[in-house]
Amino acid sequence: MKCKLSFLLNRLNKWIFIPNSRKELFYILKEFLHLTEKDFIIDNEIDISYTKIKELISILKRRNQREPFSYIFQKKEFCSLDFKINHNVLIPRPETEDLVEITIQEIRKWNSNSLIGMDVGTGSGCIAISLIYYCDQIQLIHALDINPKAIELAKENASNILKQKIHRLKFFNIDLINQEYNYKEFFHFIVSNPPYILYEEYKKLKPEIFFEPYTALVVEKPLYFFYKFFKKCYELLKNQGKLFLETSPSLVFLQTKILTKIGFQKIKILKDYNHLERYLIVEKPQVVPTLELSP
Ligand SMILES: C[S@@+](CC[C@H](N)C(=O)[O-])C[C@H]1O[C@@H](n2cnc3c(N)ncnc32)[C@H](O)[C@@H]1O
Repeated sequence: MKCKLSFLLNRLNKWIFIPNSRKELFYILKEFLHLTEKDFIIDNEIDISYTKIKELISILKRRNQREPFSYIFQKKEFCSLDFKINHNVLIPRPETEDLVEITIQEIRKWNSNSLIGMDVGTGSGCIAISLIYYCDQIQLIHALDINPKAIELAKENASNILKQKIHRLKFFNIDLINQEYNYKEFFHFIVSNPPYILYEEYKKLKPEIFFEPYTALVVEKPLYFFYKFFKKCYELLKNQGKLFLETSPSLVFLQTKILTKIGFQKIKILKDYNHLERYLIVEKPQVVPTLELSP
């Protein structure tokens, strides 16, 4: 069937019942039919089969159930790179793109081209892969996740995006909180976007969030989790190594207390584009060896 795009938009608009439906429909059509904005502006005529229209309607039904766009199309752009996404991983967020930028800015201040880093809770691999892609000062990153299916997808993204740089990234399916990880004082930096939504906050979020993996989002016992998490980071970092963390304004106070108690110093709190406290940068101090006094 041949029709103008405006005709198709008007017809399909009856099948979508979510906020900003017209805009959503526009994005879905653009993605599904591989169109450009210009096609819509000049109201191009397209040739579309009934099978395709049926497929489109089933996509609209999924959106009506509030399944996120990125799960339907299995993709998300992050730091201008194309990541494959599925239900086993969090959909990468713009706040996390800023965590990557902050990390790269800090790394650029270091006079070294053989930095070793770790990404805790790698999910789709978006942080570790972007860091390797954009920052040649990094020699190696260990990317960890408790979820084996996330590791599987992160590996696929790494081989699609990093190509010949892939040897600079290693993946580990490990629970950093409860399992041993024998790389003490090995890392110059650790970067992480860990689960940081409190359960009470989670229940009030928009319906799309419930399609994302619960364990990637919610921290049920924040005191326990972050005490163990930061203690592990302290052990794994070299002296003067840094931890770059994405967090939530509700946790910053608790986290800075724990970090100080463990021994981290130079705590910096940075805000996101909504002026919310979103990132922590902390340093493991230079440990001065104590003198052995002979009796
Ligand atoms: C908020 S998601 C971040 C995913 C990805 N880094 C991003 O920024 O989009 C947190 C990730 O941490 C992982 N995770 C949760 N607890 C963990 C643990 N104890 N050890 C390792 N990974 C963990 C989850 O499986 C999830 O993939």
